[in-house]
Amino acid sequence: MKKYVLVGVGGRAMMYWEALAKDFANTSKLAAVCDINKGRLELTRQKAGRLISDLKAYHSNDFDKMLCENKADTVIVCTRDCSHDDYIVRALEHGCDVITEKPMTIDAKKCQRIINAVKKTGKNVRVTFNYRYSPVRSQIKELLMKGIIGKILSINFQWNLDTSHGADYYRRWHRNKENSGGLLVHKATHHFDLVNWWLGDIPVEVGAQGKRAFYNAEQANRYGLKNHAERCLDCSLKSQCNFYMDIQKSQQIKELYYNHEREDGYIRDKCVFSDSIDIEDTISVQVQYKSGAELTYTLNSFAPYEGYKIEFNGTKGRLEHICQETSYINGDGTVQGALKPEGTSIKVFPHFQTPYSIEPHVGTGGHGGGDSVMLNDIFGNPAADSLKRAANYVQGAYSILVGIAANESIASGKYVNVEKLVTGLPEHGYPQNSGEDEQIAFVSETKKVHCSN
Ligand SMILES: NC(=O)c1ccc[n+]([C@@H]2O[C@H](COP(=O)([O-])OP(=O)(O)OC[C@H]3O[C@@H](n4cnc5c(N)ncnc54)[C@H](O)[C@@H]3O)[C@@H](O)[C@H]2O)c1
Repeated sequence: MKKYVLVGVGGRAMMYWEALAKDFANTSKLAAVCDINKGRLELTRQKAGRLISDLKAYHSNDFDKMLCENKADTVIVCTRDCSHDDYIVRALEHGCDVITEKPMTIDAKKCQRIINAVKKTGKNVRVTFNYRYSPVRSQIKELLMKGIIGKILSINFQWNLDTSHGADYYRRWHRNKENSGGLLVHKATHHFDLVNWWLGDIPVEVGAQGKRAFYNAEQANRYGLKNHAERCLDCSLKSQCNFYMDIQKSQQIKELYYNHEREDGYIRDKCVFSDSIDIEDTISVQVQYKSGAELTYTLNSFAPYEGYKIEFNGTKGRLEHICQETSYINGDGTVQGALKPEGTSIKVFPHFQTPYSIEPHVGTGGHGGGDSVMLNDIFGNPAADSLKRAANYVQGAYSILVGIAANESIASGKYVNVEKLVTGLPEHGYPQNSGEDEQIAFVSETKKVHCSN
């Protein structure tokens, strides 16, 4: 039986402690939880303690004591992004392996600390990239591994966060780069990891542009919200604001955050138009890969729908994958207006041949069905994985180094060399796509279409 301890008992941690207490209780034991906020810690001890009777709770000042007293094999890190490095390094130096939430950390210096600590201790760090595990994204990797469009030469990737999910990054700690690295690190770590893994390649050079164009005072003025308060709870304009969040309405949000905010000043419902936000909401990035492939990526966090579109251009054709998750939905569940969400699709356009669709594999549950598959891979007895979806610290590093380089590029206006950001990263280990250099056969039934004018 493997023994775990968990640090950071906020929203994301619930998935882990529930999994350990229920589905994987036969193979795994959660011995203790730890947090900086005593109220939230006690809430979790009580809730998880109903399922794990001997669960212990430690304040974060006693993190090392927790490691000593519980002799855990693995530490699970679910704190704010900016403190991941501290807990990862301390856990490694204590002789534990680490499972950390994404992003592994937020800047090059902290990333170097983790690289050095892994080298020194020989222990493992696993970064939980649940997006790789959602059935359709695994399917895309399978298709690319089979060489369906040959060697990939370029990628266009467009990610949209809607005005519900996207806005939530401007309400709390994510809104400041010192906590999260901005969306280029906090959120796009998922997207850059997918591209690195899909390509089987590492980024070498990054150029980026970004600005806060929507979640700002100008947009508040456009909505007539100039005199907004610093948080929704105190705001006199709540009845006319589409971004109003009632922190006392959801039982989960109230008991997890509102009830304990006096202790550490963690306010969960800050105004999305506040001047103290310093992250971008409109981002474009160009990435050059070692193989020569180029990525053009955009992230928009105020879109009317949630989802993404990615186009791979290869030596044998093109693959397009769309995942439009939601559009505005009425209270009765019907979709507003005539436009229905496009859902999920995969289309292949081989050169000189008829294009075709592939039925996408669709999952249920958190993050496109990725969470449950990933939990089984971590805590269960999974079969050998030809897609190698378990990400180590090297892959964790490459996913954040794109965003870290992009942050630097936005600040300097120059392209940034990724390899110069940190030293000592070994081979990446991504599974390779086949048929990259194979001879391409002549297609006899090619129909050439000429324009008449
Ligand atoms: N993979 C995913 O899809 C996914 C989804 C959500 C969150 N996350 C990640 O999970 C992590 C936690 O996010 P969340 O949404 O649960 O945030 P949260 O704010 O709900 O929880 C963070 C917890 O960490 C605690 N904390 C903060 N600083 C600490 C410190 N120095 N020492 C100990 N405890 C500290 C807070 O008190 C809080 O309980 C983040 O890294 C986030 O990026 C990943």
